Amino acid sequence: MRLDPDSFAGGYFRNAVYRHWDPYEDIPQSDLEADRRKWIEDEPTEAEFFEIRKNLALFGAGEEAVTEDLAPLSLVLEDINDQLFISSQIYEEAKHTQFFDRYWREVVDPAAEALGHEVIAPTDQRWYGPDYVELFDKNEAAMAALLEADTPENRARAYCHYHLVIESVLAQTGYYSIQSLHSPTGADDIALREFPHLDGLVEGITRIRSDEGRHVGWGMQKVRHLIQNEGVDPQLVRDTLRDLMPHVAGINQEFTEASDPVPVIEYSRDKLTRRIEIITDADAEVPDVDELVEIDGSEASTAAD
Ligand SMILES: [Fe+2]
Ligand SMILES: [Fe+2]
Repeated sequence: MRLDPDSFAGGYFRNAVYRHWDPYEDIPQSDLEADRRKWIEDEPTEAEFFEIRKNLALFGAGEEAVTEDLAPLSLVLEDINDQLFISSQIYEEAKHTQFFDRYWREVVDPAAEALGHEVIAPTDQRWYGPDYVELFDKNEAAMAALLEADTPENRARAYCHYHLVIESVLAQTGYYSIQSLHSPTGADDIALREFPHLDGLVEGITRIRSDEGRHVGWGMQKVRHLIQNEGVDPQLVRDTLRDLMPHVAGINQEFTEASDPVPVIEYSRDKLTRRIEIITDADAEVPDVDELVEIDGSEASTAAD
């Protein structure tokens, strides 16, 4: 047969198809309307609302960037099961971009207008600080390097930038902070005051997190394979991740009006340490894909955490 459904990539692809969701059909419009209403009733300060919007702008731009930047990987992967999985990942990143775009149109801008705050486009440069820009520039370069020289080291660097730092550490930290601010779950020490619970936003983020659990699991499996079977030095992985970490901290440090950056940065450091352990310890195991995509709302964490 052409496909190997029992391979790790084959299993991941099956899981992606099974878990398919639609950013329009599966997030009820009534939930987004309620989110908008709650923002208007909450009357956040200009600075708080700017920061809440900034977080969503960074997510939206990040999803757009990863949608664009995954393509080099699909050009170099030879195995058809890998190809199936990567095509599902590009499709999912595109859907994540679509969710944030919808949220901006239907919630963010109308709420800003009703609150009398300046309506700012999600593409406005004011949202994007130097660490964010640099991190995504480095990611783009690491992915593009695969087209120049498809070596095990360059593949490891690409997975470290894309799957481990951006999708895992940066994005998962952002979800955790949104969940803590806007749902009854998450950490108590992040929000600087009580913010409205936003069911539409949290529902979208939860589904995205579930997809990301699968993407991150894929990246971890691939880097472990490169270390164990292709001679990649685990030090290269540690160095790449540690080089990028100051950018993640720098991005989180810009959030001080609605949330406390200290526990957020701690959470991201902790996550990075656990990633490095799972990847470099030959006895550690990447959790099963069904576990990676399972969102445990009560603990606001996934096995991928
Ligand atoms: Fe995504
Ligand atoms: Fe992703």
